[in-house]
Amino acid sequence: MESKQPSFIDLLLETHIGLERQGPGSPETMKQALGFLGSLKQFEQIADLGCGSGGQTMLLAEYLPGVITGLDMFPDFIARLMEKAKSKGLEGRINGIVGNMEDLPFRKNSFDLIWSEGAIDNIGFEKGLRYWHDFLKNDGYVAVTCPSWITKEHPPIVEQFWSDAGSHIDPVEKNIEIMQNSGYKFIASFILPEECWTDNYFFPRESAIQKLMLKYPQSDNMKKYAEMNRHEVELFLKYKQHYGYVFYIGQAI
Ligand SMILES: C[S@@+](CC[C@H](N)C(=O)[O-])C[C@H]1O[C@@H](n2cnc3c(N)ncnc32)[C@H](O)[C@@H]1O
Repeated sequence: MESKQPSFIDLLLETHIGLERQGPGSPETMKQALGFLGSLKQFEQIADLGCGSGGQTMLLAEYLPGVITGLDMFPDFIARLMEKAKSKGLEGRINGIVGNMEDLPFRKNSFDLIWSEGAIDNIGFEKGLRYWHDFLKNDGYVAVTCPSWITKEHPPIVEQFWSDAGSHIDPVEKNIEIMQNSGYKFIASFILPEECWTDNYFFPRESAIQKLMLKYPQSDNMKKYAEMNRHEVELFLKYKQHYGYVFYIGQAI
């Protein structure tokens, strides 16, 4: 039991650092997205932006032949990614970089593929796509997941949740149009299945939160943090027919 009051960022990091993923997704949806790209054998340089602790970065290294550069703003996540890479003998093929997705420390025309799961909405779908475009080689691909409306009904409580989280949620058709107007040929989009949220993210996250509640039993921040996370789960279970994470795949033109 600890007496210090953890901040929300402490709690966010402590909850997520040991999880396989820091957001909804799965190996199956990754493979589905990769299936829309051209010959994977030709991919030499891949960036994974907002990679978190690198669950999907490690899989990219398994599925693709090239060098994968994972970038995230949190040094603890990048340190964890590099521990995993070393434990699999992949430190020569995986680079971990602490950085900002809005100010990339890369040369232009560097990447065959920019991958990003659950992160682009933090800087804005359109802003991210437009800015990242120049870092792709000619004909390079982008594959990103982004929370999106999947019906015409947009419950205000869900809109409010994403806005409070510093994000924004648009209909799939609008995001496809944005992609087409941002220098890409639209290749495909598909909705991530429910278990990407529940089994692969919410359930492990809730177990981690329960352990943290034992560590910080007196903390008001801990209680608020746990409530906020449960609110997110309740919203999803109630309104999941209206929104979801959508994979968008495009090719730079
Ligand atoms: C929802 S998590 C997804 C992590 C991982 N891609 C996954 O799917 O498990 C979003 C990640 O984006 C990172 N992030 C958010 N804004 C960022 C920024 N401006 N620059 C770099 N990383 C950022 C966060 O630190 C976090 O690790």
